[in-house]
Amino acid sequence: MKELASGGCRAQLRIGMPWAVLLPVWILSASTVSSRADQAAARNTLELTGENFSQAVQNGTGLPWFIKLYAPWCGHCQSLAPVWDDLAQKLQGQVVLGKVDATAEEVLAHKWEVDGYPILILFANGQAHLYTGPRCLAALEAFALGGWAEAASASSKEEPFGGLDVMALTGDNFDAVVRRNSFEDQPWFIAFQLPSCGHCRRMGPTWQSLALELKGQVIVGSVDAGADRPLAELWNVTRFPTLKLITAEHEVFDYQGGRDLEALKAFALGGFLDGASSAMPPTLLEEHSEGGRLHIVVGFILGVLFASAVWAACCCCSLSERSSPPAGGSRRRKAD
Ligand SMILES: *[C@@H]1O[C@H](CO)[C@@H](O)[C@H](O)[C@H]1NC(C)=O
Ligand SMILES: *[C@@H]1O[C@H](CO)[C@@H](O)[C@H](O)[C@H]1NC(C)=O
Ligand SMILES: *[C@@H]1O[C@H](CO)[C@@H](O)[C@H](O)[C@H]1NC(C)=O
Repeated sequence: MKELASGGCRAQLRIGMPWAVLLPVWILSASTVSSRADQAAARNTLELTGENFSQAVQNGTGLPWFIKLYAPWCGHCQSLAPVWDDLAQKLQGQVVLGKVDATAEEVLAHKWEVDGYPILILFANGQAHLYTGPRCLAALEAFALGGWAEAASASSKEEPFGGLDVMALTGDNFDAVVRRNSFEDQPWFIAFQLPSCGHCRRMGPTWQSLALELKGQVIVGSVDAGADRPLAELWNVTRFPTLKLITAEHEVFDYQGGRDLEALKAFALGGFLDGASSAMPPTLLEEHSEGGRLHIVVGFILGVLFASAVWAACCCCSLSERSSPPAGGSRRRKAD
């Protein structure tokens, strides 16, 4: 099947080359073509948001879903759009095609650690399978119609703690999304958990329900303390799960209550105000700033040396230019 798929891709590439010659013609007609493509895409591909994603896709337990996470400005996404539409048409009744604007749906995008667009994920039999093959019709079709089963062990992503509605926080995105309040004034309720801890696994479904119920009011997140030890240590987390609420003003409230949905919800929706707060720890970067300071000092010294050398050189130039006409004089004044 792979042979066939890659053959299809090569054929498409070969056909694609002469189009470069027709570029001016294509530009002239681009507006009508793209608007037609948009209309077709709208017919065949379902747009999903953070609100209706898990409800619609159901982890692929009904029909399989093939989802495209894209950014409107990304060139690879734009060239994939007509292919995606053709694919939707070909797979009608067998696989549902969906798309998510990753720039508008930050929670979903972070969930999939989107760092390059487009990201293609197929949900089938309750599991997610990342597509990493060539983005041509034949290969995509082969994958959607069962190829994913062969690729499953290699590239399926494990269902994250609390499911798709909980924002996975890591040492890399923590500061960017929590500290910078990238969700405006919503507080964060964060579970520090370990995949190996039984209490954590049992709490997973509750944490997912909590995320769904608090949508738009509180952002529910999780940190895998096994994968992100420095982050867990920074927050003094030694027992799992540890639950902390962080307000937009960066006050931290520890949760000590029971792990049932109602108690968690009451806490997140204002109950936390009855407890004592503490301050947020410094960022991981600040923690490691000793090394950073050394670099700054060395950089500063090198900078000073370089500037002196440049100044000395200019000085010599202007001295030797003393006798040149007024045009040179104005240049000299600038150099001073
Ligand atoms: C999901 O929600 C968006 C925005 O409300 C809507 O445009 C879209 O049609 C919905 N998709 C499905 C499959 O319900
Ligand atoms: C998706 O799967 C997870 C665990 O695999 C489960 O907890 C969750 O309820 C499922 N969601 C839907 C909408 O079926
Ligand atoms: C972690 O523990 C240290 C030492 O007990 C304390 O100074 C620090 O404030 C604690 N940090 C947090 C985030 O609780």
